[in-house]
Amino acid sequence: MASTAHPPHTDASPLPPVVACDWLLMDNAGGTPPLRSVVADLSDYLERWPLLAGRHNSLASAAAEAVEEGRQALATLCQADGRRRPQASELVLGTSTTQLMEVLAQALAPTFQAGERIIVSGAEHVANLTPWLRLAQHGVRVETWPLDPATGVPQLDVLAAMLEQPVRLLCITHASNVTGSVLPIADITRLAHAAGALVCVDGVAYAPHAAMAVYDWEVDFYAWSAYKVFGPHCAALYAREGLLAGLPNTSHEFHTQDALPARFEPGGVAGELVHACRSLPAYFRSLGDGCLMDGFKRVVQAERLLTRQLLEGLAHLPGVRILGDRTPGPQRLPIVSFTVEDLPPAEVVAALGHARINIRHGHFYAPRTLVACGVDPQAGALRISLTHRQTAAEVAHLLAVLRDTLTAAR
Ligand SMILES: Cc1ncc(COP(=O)(O)O)c(C=O)c1O
Repeated sequence: MASTAHPPHTDASPLPPVVACDWLLMDNAGGTPPLRSVVADLSDYLERWPLLAGRHNSLASAAAEAVEEGRQALATLCQADGRRRPQASELVLGTSTTQLMEVLAQALAPTFQAGERIIVSGAEHVANLTPWLRLAQHGVRVETWPLDPATGVPQLDVLAAMLEQPVRLLCITHASNVTGSVLPIADITRLAHAAGALVCVDGVAYAPHAAMAVYDWEVDFYAWSAYKVFGPHCAALYAREGLLAGLPNTSHEFHTQDALPARFEPGGVAGELVHACRSLPAYFRSLGDGCLMDGFKRVVQAERLLTRQLLEGLAHLPGVRILGDRTPGPQRLPIVSFTVEDLPPAEVVAALGHARINIRHGHFYAPRTLVACGVDPQAGALRISLTHRQTAAEVAHLLAVLRDTLTAAR
């Protein structure tokens, strides 16, 4: 199925490999295949450092250094142009974005008073929703910034009106894992800051598709998951300088106030997983001939073509209704959810599975987004989510199998 339709695929230099799999993996918003280098580093760590990392002897120190290498790699990706790299007091690691958001909410909880407001967008995955809804039990008011179903994006003027009354925290996703729409995060943050609110961004759906720039965006908190960026199952939470230092401890009682990020990493991190992230920047750099930003530019270029091909192809299939924005463009990632008239999503997924194509159905842990798009979350939708590693030939094959499936069912 290999094809060299567009960069970053070239005949001269194939992409550094992910693990081999003879399926077409098109549920990348669910999880990307890990790079081979990630698997090698994971295994290498376990073989070389079969002890708890620490500073008490040379072997434990070497393990700690190996973990630190992974931490630095994750920090590098948070601001890919290298202008600045989050320090230990600005970057918390954990098992998943869901877990990191829970920790953050636990830390922020005592700083809230009953009656204070949190705004959550209607595009949220539960990771950036449930922890805040829980605060509502303590009298915090959680209000929704509604989605415009036509675009899959909530409107700025609506937010501006909501910000006219005091708001402590705005929780937004950078991109919807259902509609693939990207939110204008810097503009939103400016608005929120002008109104005195902190901004907590879920970057999970965005991170695999473009360069992150947490300092440029001036966000307060930004979380993303390495296992959706060709890495192992762990995640990173950036927090603006000084914010974590002022928050209460969420970990062991003996941690002193300056123990960062340890106060927000209860139980510590999985050293082998963090270490295995060390090659992620090098991977994207290799796509840009040694320049990380160029690597991400090529990712964006490649994905725009794939997104257009996918959206146009789906629009021509019988009974298909795409959720959110149907027009390809800079604010549209290759994450496309849709329903098929009179055909249960599970049947479509199963038929594609027989052709060794992995896509998924359901509410994708963002049931409110489905509701806003007019879909019953219990019935669910179908989702195809690509990365730059996919080729035009693979997308054409997917569309052909899908057409056969839908035609046969009619
Ligand atoms: C947009 C978005 N946010 C958050 C998450 C949760 O990430 P994690 O599995 O790391 O908790 C996901 C997972 O699919 C997601 O797509």
